[in-house]
Amino acid sequence: MTTIQGTPHATQPASRPLTRADFPAGFQFGVATSSFQIEGATHEDGRKDSIWDTFCREPGRISDGTSGEVACDHYHRWPQDLDLVHSLGVDAYRFSLAWPRIQPDGRGAVNPAGLDFYERLVDGMLSRGLRPYATLYHWDLPQALQDVGGWDNRDTAHRFAEYAHIVAARLGERVVSYATLNEPWCSSILSYQLGQHAPGLQDRRAALSAAHHLLLGHGEAVRALRSVVPGAELGIVLNFSPTYPATGSPEDRAAARREDGEFNRWFLEPLLLGQYPADIWQSYGTDVPDIHPGDLETIRQPLDFLGVNYYTRGFVSASGQKPAGASYTQMGWEVFPQGLTDLLLRLSRDYPAPPMFVTENGAAYPDTLSGETVHDTERVQYFAAHLEAVRQASLQGVDVRGYFAWSLMDNFEWAYGYSRRFGLVYVDYADQTRVLKDSGRWYQALASSEAPNP
Ligand code: FCB
Repeated sequence: MTTIQGTPHATQPASRPLTRADFPAGFQFGVATSSFQIEGATHEDGRKDSIWDTFCREPGRISDGTSGEVACDHYHRWPQDLDLVHSLGVDAYRFSLAWPRIQPDGRGAVNPAGLDFYERLVDGMLSRGLRPYATLYHWDLPQALQDVGGWDNRDTAHRFAEYAHIVAARLGERVVSYATLNEPWCSSILSYQLGQHAPGLQDRRAALSAAHHLLLGHGEAVRALRSVVPGAELGIVLNFSPTYPATGSPEDRAAARREDGEFNRWFLEPLLLGQYPADIWQSYGTDVPDIHPGDLETIRQPLDFLGVNYYTRGFVSASGQKPAGASYTQMGWEVFPQGLTDLLLRLSRDYPAPPMFVTENGAAYPDTLSGETVHDTERVQYFAAHLEAVRQASLQGVDVRGYFAWSLMDNFEWAYGYSRRFGLVYVDYADQTRVLKDSGRWYQALASSEAPNP
């Protein structure tokens, strides 16, 4: 890194491997997972079905016909998995809690065994010097709540706030950071309109109603959490896909603006501005959600952080044009690190955004075991380029405080089952062996490098 008058040069890419010294003091390096994707043990110790258990049983929903029944068997192997996280040299571990372990029916009676599990897990992190970053909802809604409408039912928002309160009352400020929801776009639009995620509906009105109730549930949960864990950091995790028009034509620009509105602004603006974007509201016609007085005030709670999940951009062309010279991951997602810099800059310049964390970023590639490791060169390049993109945003003044690689280990990739691998660690599902990939070693070297002086 070159230095001009004591200021790091913003446009100079690091010519040597990144180290902690390239990031601000206190910057958190972490890895992320979610409950349904790794835990397995779906019917143990009182846990009942989530909507994903049901969805996996429906023929054709999961491309390889698998389920979360065993997954990475993390429910039984968590001590070794936390050892693995610790061995990477990271500061923090982002995990999620399964609501149907804690309140198997989504309401009423608490299942003590569920809370006990997460208490052991959190204490296990603390005893290894790892900072717990919890996500309360990463898509595994209790099936009993789906049976009465799921997120399309306004009552689910209230149930969620109650569940959040139960969790925080038990785990308290041992959890340093609570995110309410992970990616509400996925648990509403992708799940209720596009039909690709549980519960697999295709109904735009229901999807927009679900989105509103998710945001309402977030707001109510933040209020509940503030009273129980005033010292914890509270926020939400959104997925962003910044959109770029293929050309400067009015058609491409309008299409990009529309896609940005539906995907990004529809969730961001109620949270940060207390209003839905007017252009998209109008275009949705009679499918818009039913908003009660006070809802938008509830949704716009002061936040301690915004979690940013970034995998790719949207390249929008009215004529179906594709970006020139692009490379893609196995998900078919374009590798576009510049999009992460642009996104972080936009969020901090155009919105009253709280401090940000990149809460997910990563790539699936068809890994193969070779001897004792996996030579996942493309994934190393993906991580290096995106961390460099975060560094560039930080150098340009964005308050970004951490980065969580998705994912600690290969896991159940939703509708793709086990056919997509995102891990820093390879999982052999036949015997649950964990094998550190080259990318894991690369991340370990970065996380173990010397920290800058505060
Ligand atoms: C995100 C999800 C995460 C994982 C990655 C690949 O949308 O939050 O669970 O599946 O995509």
